[in-house]
Amino acid sequence: MGFWNKLFGKNTNNEETIEMTKLNIGIVLGSTREGRVSPQVGQWVKEIADKRGDANYEIVDIADFNLPFLGTTDGTEPGIAAWNEKLASLDGFVFIVQEYNHSITGALKNALDFAREAWNDKAAGIVSYGSTGGARAAEHLRGIMGELMIADVRTHPTLSLFTDFENGSVFKPQDLHLDNVNLMLDQVNAWSGALKTLRK
Ligand SMILES: Cc1cc2nc3c(=O)[nH]c(=O)nc-3n(C[C@H](O)[C@H](O)[C@H](O)COP(=O)(O)O)c2cc1C
Repeated sequence: MGFWNKLFGKNTNNEETIEMTKLNIGIVLGSTREGRVSPQVGQWVKEIADKRGDANYEIVDIADFNLPFLGTTDGTEPGIAAWNEKLASLDGFVFIVQEYNHSITGALKNALDFAREAWNDKAAGIVSYGSTGGARAAEHLRGIMGELMIADVRTHPTLSLFTDFENGSVFKPQDLHLDNVNLMLDQVNAWSGALKTLRK
């Protein structure tokens, strides 16, 4: 603690702690099907995010939780509790969204439905893909996020199955998306930090 801080009673220990406490942001893979491309897209976002060093970023794979279809079991499957615990540990989200029949996947909707408070008062960004950049699915997700009290940020990178993938399966993103991903992450971090104060 420096002389001036001692004199004025400034608690630098607390400040250092606050500075060192990074937000936890989950990069949620929205698809679970065999042969899905979402892990490639999620990994690409994570690599861009990790270079920033401004938050703890992790891939959150819905498939890992073996969630049953909502309402078809007694709700005691360990994956349901684990899913809620994982979401509760996160301050914000980046949803990797793929377009299925002009909307989000059933797997993502089911996973969204399986939690409530763990989503509330947090922020999220969307990275989507499809024949028209997954835009229709992303807009559906925005409506759902309103109900779950997730604040969705404006900037939304949209990836084309035709120009950002080879044969619709090998992810080769164009460089032009990089700025948009970083801008989206700026907004997710800012809002996640602001909303954290509401949850205390
Ligand atoms: C059931 C199904 C429905 C689809 N519907 C659409 C669609 O409406 N619009 C679109 O752009 N792509 C559609 N697609 C193509 C997917 O966006 C594409 O296969 C994408 O790779 C799926 O993401 P995933 O590989 O992570 O599962 C559909 C794919 C599936 C499996």
